[in-house]
Amino acid sequence: MSFLWEKLLRPAAFAFEAEHAHDLGIRALKHGLARAFYVEDPAFGLNPFELFGLRFANPLGIAAGFDKNGMVLEPLARLGFGFIEAGTVTLRPQPGNPKPRMFRLPEDRALINRLGFNNLGAAALVANIRENQRRCVIGINIGKNKDVPNEEAVEAFAKTFEVVHPVADYIAINVSSPNTPGLRDLQRSDAFEPLVAELQARNRELGRKPLLVKIAPDLDDAGIKEITDICIDAGIDGMIATNTTVARRALRTPDVEQIGDGGLSGAPLFDRSNDVIRTVFRHSGGRMPIIGVGGVFTANDAFAKISAGASLIQAYTGFVYGGPAFAKEIVTGLGKILRERGFADVRSAVGCEAL
Ligand SMILES: Cc1cc2nc3c(=O)[nH]c(=O)nc-3n(C[C@H](O)[C@H](O)[C@H](O)COP(=O)(O)O)c2cc1C
Repeated sequence: MSFLWEKLLRPAAFAFEAEHAHDLGIRALKHGLARAFYVEDPAFGLNPFELFGLRFANPLGIAAGFDKNGMVLEPLARLGFGFIEAGTVTLRPQPGNPKPRMFRLPEDRALINRLGFNNLGAAALVANIRENQRRCVIGINIGKNKDVPNEEAVEAFAKTFEVVHPVADYIAINVSSPNTPGLRDLQRSDAFEPLVAELQARNRELGRKPLLVKIAPDLDDAGIKEITDICIDAGIDGMIATNTTVARRALRTPDVEQIGDGGLSGAPLFDRSNDVIRTVFRHSGGRMPIIGVGGVFTANDAFAKISAGASLIQAYTGFVYGGPAFAKEIVTGLGKILRERGFADVRSAVGCEAL
């Protein structure tokens, strides 16, 4: 980790309340204040590769929620991320839950958030993406407004899908955030099947783009297998495992219950998200491409997710703690690990320890 970040910038950022620090970080990125950390070549010596018909300079992406409104896509790409998942975006703008709603747990290298899809709405995101220079793959993660009941979720998702479709390289269906009441119920087969069927129908009408599904780590094994089967049957292109967890197991932070509800991310999620990746990989016989996310702080963590079955990696919390050199450190380190272990590229290592 760079000295400047660890000794100076991070303590300064962490002196602010967590969401305020995030907003300052977005502003700093937007104004080019991270320019000193920009990289020349985001491949970092790895071979670029194709997945979902898209070309990725490297396998590390920024997870959904960091740049909900597509404000800083270009600076993030310049820091070396191979792809960015913007959103979650909803059809209409909404303010999200009352503050405070984002908390650091430094003893656990974790965050808890209950933001509740605060975002400027799908149209604003599309406008922002059009204004930004495109420097890497841009996925868009879609959800539903809080005031939309689950009986109307299919139409709400479908309309949002139509708005973002023209500018998205891929679209991710978010049925796994814990902070929109009832959203996770859409993972159940009776609600999930009609949802993906409708989105695939619109996808065919509008011109096929990769459609992915992001799942929760709090599903049991049977639930993971069931949703994987539905995704395979519906021709879903990939699964993103996982979103944040509502579990609070073995945390070092004292009195964590005082923080209240929300999704836990970071190191405490690492093992569980790897288990989910492995389950999807095994159950699909390696046929379902997986984006592995949850608790990646080091190149070894990224490799663990690849060996469990992930073809691509995302991070959010690790970037918050690791700072602007994060992508460079992870991808460079990953290249080294691959070489040491005799893998020619990322693809040949996918799932090597899953079976
Ligand atoms: C503050 C915060 C906001 C998030 N917002 C979203 C979101 O809007 N949509 C989503 O699908 N995931 C969201 N996530 C979940 C992340 O995309 C990711 O799945 C999760 O944090 C696990 O990865 P990590 O341990 O690297 O943070 C959010 C996470 C955090 C910490």
